[in-house]
Amino acid sequence: MSDQSKLGDGTRCVHAGLPEPTPGEPFLPGPVFAAPYHLDPVLGPDATPNGYGRPDNPTRRRLETAIGELEGGDVLAFASGQAAITAVLLPLLRPGDTVLLPTDGYFPVRAFASETLAGLGVDVRFVPTAGPYPSFDGVRLILIETPANPGLDVCDVAGLAERAHAAGALLAVDNTTATPLGQRPLDLGADLVVASGTKALTGHSDLLLGYVASRSAELLEPIRGWRTTTGSVPGAFDAWLAHRSLATLDLRLARQSANAAAVAAALRARTDVTGVRWPGLPDDPAFPVASRQMRRFPGLVSFDLGNADRVARFLAASDLVFAATSFGGLHTTADRRAQWGDDVPAGFLRLSCGVEDTTDLIADLTAALDEAGER
Ligand SMILES: Cc1ncc(COP(=O)(O)O)c(C=O)c1O
Repeated sequence: MSDQSKLGDGTRCVHAGLPEPTPGEPFLPGPVFAAPYHLDPVLGPDATPNGYGRPDNPTRRRLETAIGELEGGDVLAFASGQAAITAVLLPLLRPGDTVLLPTDGYFPVRAFASETLAGLGVDVRFVPTAGPYPSFDGVRLILIETPANPGLDVCDVAGLAERAHAAGALLAVDNTTATPLGQRPLDLGADLVVASGTKALTGHSDLLLGYVASRSAELLEPIRGWRTTTGSVPGAFDAWLAHRSLATLDLRLARQSANAAAVAAALRARTDVTGVRWPGLPDDPAFPVASRQMRRFPGLVSFDLGNADRVARFLAASDLVFAATSFGGLHTTADRRAQWGDDVPAGFLRLSCGVEDTTDLIADLTAALDEAGER
C-alpha cells in the first residue's frame, strides 16, 4: 500500500492491516479458529508461524499489524487492557526496581502495583498525572495515563520522555482514552504504549482487548514471552471483531468528540453542575498540553452532580444515557465512579459520549438534568 503517513485517518483505519487484494477473497478474511494447526511433517514449527494458538494466530497477527500501523510500532495483542499492562509491569520490573504510576489513573493498576508488585519487592511510587513530577533518578519505569481516567488530566508525553531517558528510565503511556488517532506516544518519545482496546478503539461494547506497542524489539521480546507463558491472548473471534470495528474508528471518534464538545458546553452553561472537565475546553487546566499534544479530543466528559441520589435521578430520567461502566462505545453511557471505589466525590460522573445525533443527546441530557432537580 502507498505511504501510510500521507493518508488521512479515515483511510488508514479502513485499510489498516488488510491483506493484499486477492480475487475471490474477502477484504478482511474471517477468523481462523485453531488450537493446533497442521504441521509440516519434516520441518515442524520452523515451516510456519501457525503451530499452536497460544503463541500465534493469523487473525490476531492481522489485528496487530492494523493497530501497529496506527500506533507506529510493533504490537502484541492481549486478552484485555489489564493483561497488557501487567505484561509490561511484571516482566520488566525486578525486586529493587522503582516504578512510578499515576495517582489518578485506572484504579486496578494502582491496586495491582500496591498489592502484587510491592509484594515482589518493587518500590511503587505514585504521582498525579498533572504533576509535579519528582526526579526520575533511580526509577526504572514510569507509566503515565493521559488523558487520565476518570479525572481527564493530561501530561506532556514528550517532556516526560526526555526526562525519563536522561535518567535512564523507560516511559510507558496508557493510550486507552486518546486512542492512536488521538495521540501517538511512540512519536512523542515513549518507549512503550499500553492500552485497553475494549474502549473507543473497538467501540462497540462487545469485546475485551488490550495491546502493547513499541519500536524496541528488545522490550517486546520478554513481553511476548510473558504472553505466551501466561496465555493472556485474545480469541480469534474477538481479534477479528476488533479488526472489523477498527475500520470506523475515525468516524466514531469524530462524532464522539463533537458530542463531548457540545455536552461540555451545555454542562458549563448550567449553574447546577460543577467540576466540568473536558480537555478540549479552552479554559480547562488540561487544554494547553492537550491542544499541543493531541490530534483530537476524547469523547469523555467528567462532572459532579453533588450526590449519588441526584446521579440516580438523572440516569433514571435520561432516555439516551445508559448507566454503565467502561467507555468509548457507540452508546452514550455514564458511570458514577465512586461506586467502583475511585477516589472521587460521590456525585462524580464520567460521561462517555456515543455517536447519537448531537441535538438529540443535548436535548435528552438537558431534560434529564432538569428532571433530576437540585441537590
Ligand atoms: C485507562 C485504562 N487502562 C486500562 C484499562 C483496563 O482495560 P480492560 O478493562 O480492557 O482490562 C482500563 C479499563 O477501564 C482503562 O480505563
